[in-house]
Amino acid sequence: MSKYYISTPIYYVNDKPHIGHAYTTILADVLARFHRAAGEKTFFLTGTDEHGLKVQQAAEKRGVPPQTHVDETMPRFRQLWDRLGITYDRFIRTTEDAHKKVVQGLLQDLHDRGEIYRAEYDGWYCVGCERYYMEKDLIEGTCPECGRPVEKISESNYFFKMSKYQDWLIRHIQDNPGFIQPDFRRNETLGFLRKPLQDLCISRPKKRLAWGIEIPFDKDYVTYVWFDALVNYITGVGYGTDEHAFGKWWPADCHLIGKDILTTHTVYWPIMLKAAGIPVPNMIFAHGWWLLGDRKMSKSEGNVVDPMAMIDRYGNDATRYFLMAEMSLGQDASFTEEAFIRRYNSDLANDLGNLASRVLNMLTRHCGSTIPAVTPGEPERELEKLVSDNLVSSFQLVNGMKMDQGVERIITSVRAINRFLEQRKPWDLAKNKDQAGLDAVLGTAAEALCACAIALHPVMPSKMEELLLAFGLKASAGRFPSVSGFSRILPGTTVCDGLKLFPRIEVKKDASAKDAAMENNEKALSKSEKPPVVAVPAPDGLVSMDEFKKIQLRTARVLTAEKIEGADKLLRLEVLVGEEKRQLVAGIALHYKPEDLVGRDVVIVANLKPAKIRNIESRGMVLCASSGDALKLLAIDGTISSGAEVR
Ligand code: MSP
Repeated sequence: MSKYYISTPIYYVNDKPHIGHAYTTILADVLARFHRAAGEKTFFLTGTDEHGLKVQQAAEKRGVPPQTHVDETMPRFRQLWDRLGITYDRFIRTTEDAHKKVVQGLLQDLHDRGEIYRAEYDGWYCVGCERYYMEKDLIEGTCPECGRPVEKISESNYFFKMSKYQDWLIRHIQDNPGFIQPDFRRNETLGFLRKPLQDLCISRPKKRLAWGIEIPFDKDYVTYVWFDALVNYITGVGYGTDEHAFGKWWPADCHLIGKDILTTHTVYWPIMLKAAGIPVPNMIFAHGWWLLGDRKMSKSEGNVVDPMAMIDRYGNDATRYFLMAEMSLGQDASFTEEAFIRRYNSDLANDLGNLASRVLNMLTRHCGSTIPAVTPGEPERELEKLVSDNLVSSFQLVNGMKMDQGVERIITSVRAINRFLEQRKPWDLAKNKDQAGLDAVLGTAAEALCACAIALHPVMPSKMEELLLAFGLKASAGRFPSVSGFSRILPGTTVCDGLKLFPRIEVKKDASAKDAAMENNEKALSKSEKPPVVAVPAPDGLVSMDEFKKIQLRTARVLTAEKIEGADKLLRLEVLVGEEKRQLVAGIALHYKPEDLVGRDVVIVANLKPAKIRNIESRGMVLCASSGDALKLLAIDGTISSGAEVR
């Protein structure tokens, strides 16, 4: 069985993760899920980059030790990845002991091999990028990468003999066209290598920067943060600690990076590995930037989109979908909330969501909620072929890192299923009592739709699971092959009507979508704290933690219960909530006798506005689970004092 090892860059802990960071990680997750589903053994590594001057300075500013600072900031990434459903196999932190040992071992090894030497350094340093530059590299006296001012520096340092591998690297890149992708990024690196390569300064004197991994052969220095960070890719799969795992996973199949870190990954990293006698990765893929307007999204620019706010507003799956569908991998893309809503309403609400509820509804009404066996006619066979072909080409496109086109193929299939229904008119077949025709149309539409859902599963895992479940398929990530082509897997399964996957987003009438989105770009979305200008209901019915916390759920002990005259469904309850006695009206009389309730613990919504029901004041609501005609009170597992918080 083949293997697939994918990594994201490790993120600087100082930053609050924004949609650009989320993008790289979602993309890696989609690819990991896709390869897993295709039956490959997959390893997915992500993590945080925790050393360096910026971290030291941020910790000093807060008056806390750097370790405390990174321990407190790192969880922001983990929390975001949890909410986004990221299925990483390992989250690496560069402050882990295991990683420090690997870096030190590698430095010692390179030193012993004569690949590292000491020399006087005279040059320029950019604190922002944590990189040294020669006078000639500067652009109008500023950092060539970020344009910020640079500092003149003169000190003794350790250098890695990078220049001696320049010819080897050029040959390797030329002989392995897939090594740097997309092609134009390969050319960019080759262009960079046309100039003589300098040796790399890999140390920082502790007197200037103490927050780093100590150089094993000179205690007065720590190593350069990039030397430390790049090594995470081998630490993460067991280099130096678990040779079996390392042999299994290395070399990496895809280092996913943003275009901003191309040189470090396509020049420094392969040379570091080559010098240490370790094979180089199979592919480094650099994607473009998410822009706001024409500017890169970055915290220092103060123009970032908060992914948590997007998830709160539109849901996790819709956010993942938009990012995958909107960016042509390799190119830059512009983020606007207007484009988000447009795509959501068109692809997800109109095409996919409506199709699912339509088909489920008709299967319930006309086929007794069971997927029928099908004798396909010509139109059914045509649809099968179209969907099948699209799935195969979508699979190839995603495999070739063309995510947007891969997704587009599936949505094209969804549209074709909608057209098929318009043409075959199952509603007319129902009127004419043509059951065989209905079975063929609805059975085929259901099958085609589920095939699309399986293919979209890596992009929208939760929603597609929901969809497949409604069609009677117990989906779980990886259970379905990414490309099932079109095999009939459904006949005989029971469907469940009432699925509302992607409710349409209505844009508030008084702010045109366009204006609102423009506002968002520049102002509202730049500060996640600010509410969005576009007023939309949460399409998934999702609420934020803050919203949820507004609802106070409490346990309550029933003291008395009695029927209410003239209302056969209602009971009047007197309950104890902590110290407080309350009166409630509950619609449970058809299911519970008053005498069975006394002494029982129930769960109530404690901060509901008081209401008068049959002229009796009710202060709270008793929670029940209901399904069809059945209704059951929520029960507490064991004993707990009345008034206890339910959360
Ligand atoms: N710590 C280094 C990487 C070390 S890897 C050995 C670093 N970290 S970062 O947090 O600044 O950025 C990491 C990555 O976030 C970028 O390479 C890119 O993949 C992603 N993005 C950051 N801003 C982005 C956009 N505006 N758009 C798309 N991706 C962006 O560099």
